[in-house]
Amino acid sequence: MSLVILKIGGSVITDKGSVSSARKDEIDRISEEVASFSRDSGSNLILVHGAGSFGHPQAMKYKLDERFDAEGVYLTHVSVKTLNSMVVESLNRAGAHALPVHPLSSCLLENGKLIEFQLSQVKLMLERGIIPVIHGDVVMDRIKGAAVLSGDRIIPYIALALNASKIGAGSDVDGVMDADGIVIKKITPLSFADMKKNIRGSTSTDVTGGMLGKVSELLELAGKGISSRIFNAGRKGVVSRFLYGEDVGTLITDK
Ligand SMILES: Nc1ncnc2c1ncn2[C@@H]1O[C@H](COP(=O)(O)OP(=O)(O)OP(=O)(O)O)[C@@H](O)[C@H]1O
Ligand SMILES: [Mg+2]
Repeated sequence: MSLVILKIGGSVITDKGSVSSARKDEIDRISEEVASFSRDSGSNLILVHGAGSFGHPQAMKYKLDERFDAEGVYLTHVSVKTLNSMVVESLNRAGAHALPVHPLSSCLLENGKLIEFQLSQVKLMLERGIIPVIHGDVVMDRIKGAAVLSGDRIIPYIALALNASKIGAGSDVDGVMDADGIVIKKITPLSFADMKKNIRGSTSTDVTGGMLGKVSELLELAGKGISSRIFNAGRKGVVSRFLYGEDVGTLITDK
């Protein structure tokens, strides 16, 4: 059966300008759109969400990108887990069956690179019609002790491992924009060379590369034959339109 991977940015479901501040209305609205698609289509669906204001501030405070700090690892994980629980609860309230999957307990990094992800449980959840809800997290690292694993980096790994057919990343902008603020319809490895200078990190607290990091991850995936879309999950109905196959936002593809 076809598999859809949907990432929802922390930029949408949290207020990235403050610390640990969730946008519950947005979480509930997106849950309704996801649950309704899941019910109608019967498709297998994995939800990955970013951390937004729940994890980035702790990871920055303890400088987890520079040094190992056990307390920082603990507090960052506790924070992102809180947001994950809200998303999982909201999906279940909306009528979907959803369960949490924490990268800290199922992934391994080597110098920041994701080298292992236990997916047997995820596969069984999908077989049972459950939506696994994965999130950006702090993860043990063979070299660094621990490092931040972004939701954006989780996408290519699971897309390839589980042979996903549709991948989308919903953020707080209408797509990837050019220098004039116009949404770029399609990005390929070739066109990226020209437009890279216009794509930046995030305007707020973000330790995982913002839009540039996201586009880079998805271009690498496109190079392996899997296209994806970046669109605005902050606008009502856009997640649903993506799920039903409309051409929303920016397409990231090989050619
Ligand atoms: N060329 C560009 N086009 C679109 N957005 C851009 C561009 N350059 C920089 N950005 C910034 O990237 C942000 C989106 O990335 P960001 O990492 O903040 O969100 P996210 O990935 O949705 O959230 P999270 O990282 O918490 O999961 C936008 O809000 C915008 O400020
Ligand atoms: Mg991001």
